[in-house]
Amino acid sequence: MPVKNRMAELLPEITAWRRDFHENPELLYEVHRTAGKVAELLRSFGVDEVVEGVGRTGVVGVIKGRSDSSGRVIGLRADMDALPINEITGVDYASKTPGVMHACGHDGHTAMLLGAARYLAETRNFDGTAVVIFQPAEEGGAGGLAMVEDGLVDRWGIQEFYGMHNMPGIPTGSFAIREGAMMAAADQFDIVVTGKGGHAAKPHECIDTTLVSAQIIVALQSIVSRNIDPLKNAVVSVCVVQTDSTAHNVIPQTVTLKGTARSLDAGVRDQLEAGIRRVSENIAAAFGATADIDYRRGYPVTVNHADATEHAANVAREVAGDIDMTVQPMMGGEDFSYMLEQRPGAYIFVGNGDTAMVHHPAYNFDDDAIPAGSSWYAGMVEARMPAA
Ligand code: NI
Repeated sequence: MPVKNRMAELLPEITAWRRDFHENPELLYEVHRTAGKVAELLRSFGVDEVVEGVGRTGVVGVIKGRSDSSGRVIGLRADMDALPINEITGVDYASKTPGVMHACGHDGHTAMLLGAARYLAETRNFDGTAVVIFQPAEEGGAGGLAMVEDGLVDRWGIQEFYGMHNMPGIPTGSFAIREGAMMAAADQFDIVVTGKGGHAAKPHECIDTTLVSAQIIVALQSIVSRNIDPLKNAVVSVCVVQTDSTAHNVIPQTVTLKGTARSLDAGVRDQLEAGIRRVSENIAAAFGATADIDYRRGYPVTVNHADATEHAANVAREVAGDIDMTVQPMMGGEDFSYMLEQRPGAYIFVGNGDTAMVHHPAYNFDDDAIPAGSSWYAGMVEARMPAA
C-alpha cells in the first residue's frame, strides 16, 4: 500500500478544500464556517453519522466498515483552528481575514482527514468503525479537552486515537515518529513580586522589587541546570518583566514576571512547578519582599504509546517507504495529548518540506503532502481493523 491511488485522484478536490479553509481562517472555538463545511462534506460522502457541536464547535463523523465482527473503534483526529498572525505568503488563496492565518497547517490536517473520510466512506474496506474527529481550539484553547469532556471517548466507544501534524524541515510526504514523549507539557506562570515602592534616591526606605526580580530571574535558571536530571529535558523561560511604574526615579511597588515551563514527563513537570514556587518565594523572602506565584498547567505531555507507535510507523512505511523513527521530541505543546491520556494511540509528523516553520507569517502547508497524509489516516483504519 503506497499512496492510495484514490487519494491521488482526489488530490485536486482535497487541495481545493484546503485552500478554501486557508482563505477563511477562524480562531479557537469560533471555527463555525470551517466546522459547517466539514459537516456538510462528511454528509455528502455518505458518512453514517455526523454530529456537530461536540466540545462546542467540534465535529465527529462515524464510518462503519463493511463488517463489524471485530467490534473495534479507531479515532482519527485533525484540528481546524488558525492563529492570530498576519499572513505574508502572497499566495493567491491567502487569508481574507486580516490578522488571522492558517500558520500551523491545520487547514491541511482538516482537508487530509476529509480526504480519508471520503475514501473510507466509499470503500468501507475494514471490519469495525472509524470515527473522524475535527477539533476546535488546538492553539491554546484546549479544544481536545473540551471534546473529551463532552464524552468523545464513551459516546463513540473509541479504543485508539491517531493524530498527525505537518512539520517543516522533514521532506514533503515522508513521516517521522518516536515512541514516548513527542510533544511537551506547556505551562505558564506569573510571579508578582511585591516590595515597598518609593523614591529611587531613597532605596534604604524601600524594598527594591526590580532587584529582587532580577535575582529571581537568574535563580530560576538553576532549576533546569541544577535540579532536573541532566538526561531529562526541561525549559524555563521568563519572557515578560513588567514594573508598575514607568518613571526613571521610582522604585516600583510590584514587578510581574511571566514565562513558560516545558517538560517531557510528568515528574519533571512537578519538579518545575515546585522549583519555580520555592525559588521565587524564598528569594523574595530573603530580601524582605513577597512573591505570589500563579502556575497554570497547560497541555500535558503528548505521549506516543509503544504498540500504537509501531502500528502508526508500519502504515507510514507502507505509504512512504523509509521513515524517521528517531525524530527528537518538540518542546511545543499539543492538545491531542488529552485524547492520548484517555486511550492508547500515537501522533505522527508528516513532512512539509523546506518552508518557514509553523507559526511564522510566511509558513504555508504544502499540498503535495496531501496524498501521503490522507493515505496514512485511511491506512490506519484498514490496518488496525483489517477487512474480515
Ligand atoms: Ni499546530
